[in-house]
Amino acid sequence: PVRERVRIVEVGPRDGLQNESAVIPPHVKAELVNRLTHAGMDIIEAGSFVSPKWVPQKDRSFGERMAGTADVLKQMHRQKGLHYPVLVPNVKGLENLLELLAQQPKDEVPYTDEIAIFTAASDAFCKANTNCTIEESLARLKTVTHRATKEGLRVRGYVSVVIDCPYSGKVDPVKVRDVTKALLEMGCYEISLGDTVGTGNPTTISELLETVIGGSSDISPSLLAGHYHDTFGMGVSNILTSLDFGLRTFDSSVGGLGGCPYSPGATGNVATEDVLYALRGSRFDAPGDLTKMAEVGSWISKQLNRTNASRVGKALEAR
Ligand code: HMG
Ligand code: MG
Repeated sequence: PVRERVRIVEVGPRDGLQNESAVIPPHVKAELVNRLTHAGMDIIEAGSFVSPKWVPQKDRSFGERMAGTADVLKQMHRQKGLHYPVLVPNVKGLENLLELLAQQPKDEVPYTDEIAIFTAASDAFCKANTNCTIEESLARLKTVTHRATKEGLRVRGYVSVVIDCPYSGKVDPVKVRDVTKALLEMGCYEISLGDTVGTGNPTTISELLETVIGGSSDISPSLLAGHYHDTFGMGVSNILTSLDFGLRTFDSSVGGLGGCPYSPGATGNVATEDVLYALRGSRFDAPGDLTKMAEVGSWISKQLNRTNASRVGKALEAR
């Protein structure tokens, strides 16, 4: 039987490294992207064009860690046909990216063909993350999306805190549905649902997806992605649950890198190795070579002097 394709958006170089306390130089980030490419990842979120001046609470080096994405894009070996989305929070970030793209020699593989915009399903998180309410952020992002689309970039949208908000508690799935709809209407090709805090489980993820996809909402699961942080160890289970709802795209980080500066105690994204292992032998076909990905996870964990957060990666290391 033909195995059904699952897309993986490898977010380690952005979501993962954004939340590691060490400041990682662009050449190490570029090498991470190269190694991920070699291991078979075909969509790799490479960095962000957020404000280097933006300093969230208790995270003094945030801006410093986020600077240098232009250098990462220049230094990494870009491959034709692969995608390297970068986060853009506002028009200023988009302009910086467009300026960079305009400087590039025409015969090169473009630095990127995709941006990711982000908002949240709670005002409290939106304020902490981007200094504006959800409504203000949607207005801002509409301008960004229209301009980016006109420039030939495709736009992916993120909704954060789809289960719980670290500041205002439980989030109503109806709010997630409404924000998702608004992002699709402005022109995003896909919306990634972020369990930022990582408290979701198969029951709450099911309730969420029933609301976002079901009823009169008219949102096809093919337009959605699952972005699950693994704080409570539910990432893989939440992905398997989402597959039952028809989602076929998931975000994950090699080695389970990361955390979240706005979400105390939250750990990284579900590890890509764990997702690949969970899908092994199933009716789903995901990109990437598990053995090679585990090697990348071990390598980057060593670079960061951290414990490999992938259970599968650790198990394979011990063999
Ligand atoms: P603000 O302070 O309101 O911005 O921040 P501003 O427009 O008032 O500008 C302040 C200064 O920053 C100005 O400089 C701007 O030029 C500059 P000055 O005039 O003082 O010299 N500036 C910029 N510089 C470079 N690039 C830019 C930029 N924008 C302004 N793009 C802002 C508003 C949105 C910019 C800020 O809050 C910000 O950058 N936030 C980003 C926070 C972030 O990166 N969060 C992590 C990513 S989201 C995430 O991790 C969740 C996700 O993984 C899904 C999930 O798990 O839920 C995606
Ligand atoms: Mg995230």
